[in-house]
Amino acid sequence: MMRLENKVALVTGSAQGLGAAIAKLYAKEGAKVFVADLKAEIGEKTVEEINKTAKNKAEFIVLDVTDEGSWINAVSSVVKSAGKLDILVNNAGINIREPIEEMQVKSLDAMLAVNVKGPFLGIKHFIPILRKAGGGSIINMSSVCGLIGHKYTTEAYTVTKGALTLLTKTIAVRYAKDNIRTNSIHPSTVNTPLVQELFKNPDRKAERLGEVPLGRLATDMDVANAALFLASEEASFLNGVALPVDGGTTAD
Ligand SMILES: NC(=O)c1ccc[n+]([C@@H]2O[C@H](COP(=O)([O-])OP(=O)(O)OC[C@H]3O[C@@H](n4cnc5c(N)ncnc54)[C@H](O)[C@@H]3O)[C@@H](O)[C@H]2O)c1
Repeated sequence: MMRLENKVALVTGSAQGLGAAIAKLYAKEGAKVFVADLKAEIGEKTVEEINKTAKNKAEFIVLDVTDEGSWINAVSSVVKSAGKLDILVNNAGINIREPIEEMQVKSLDAMLAVNVKGPFLGIKHFIPILRKAGGGSIINMSSVCGLIGHKYTTEAYTVTKGALTLLTKTIAVRYAKDNIRTNSIHPSTVNTPLVQELFKNPDRKAERLGEVPLGRLATDMDVANAALFLASEEASFLNGVALPVDGGTTAD
């Protein structure tokens, strides 16, 4: 039995990176997946890859999470094509690494728009659809920076990810009555090409690895497996949880 049999999921920011890993794993576990992203070309490629083996065909949706009209269109596309939604993953996020004293207001606004307004609008527009399906699972991709004042991260990112942690909890409390579970995931640094670039500097590498008790970076599958668990029936009593996927970083 596949773990997301008969489920329909939408994952934002899933053309690449963590979102793509989640979309692929969900499809492998039987879900029909909507890959929703700004980037159409790579998004379509991700869908093609998924559909080589998927039982239920994945679809690409152009979505700008900062734009309410774009969310309204996404809801129509999902309802028209699948008739329902069970799982919403608010994964799209950006990080403009400007320290607070050098931060340009336009960078701050852009980060708030993608990282906070995006999930807020997604939840606003998909709650009625999840309710109609008899409930569901909302998963917000926060960060260790949504739990602690992380010394290697600039302030604005922490502000946006902290907001997402409490957006998760307020929705969890309010919509539990509709059998909608809302949880957040908090990864430490994930092993991406960007990080490998940073790791060319041995001091940066030592800093980043030194803060993780398990002594390694997160993989995209570490995060995708957590997102699978939270979406599945195995997590049916988990609501309002902030789940670190960080090798113990925030326990230190
Ligand atoms: N990579 C890490 O180390 C790490 C650690 C903790 C948390 N996170 C969080 O995980 C999430 C995914 O990170 P990633 O490393 O895979 O990032 P990524 O940059 O590889 O992918 C992000 C995706 O989001 C999409 N996106 C950006 N703005 C969008 C918008 N307005 N509307 C729709 N889509 C948009 C991009 O096109 C891209 O496909 C983010 O929320 C990030 O903050 C990442």
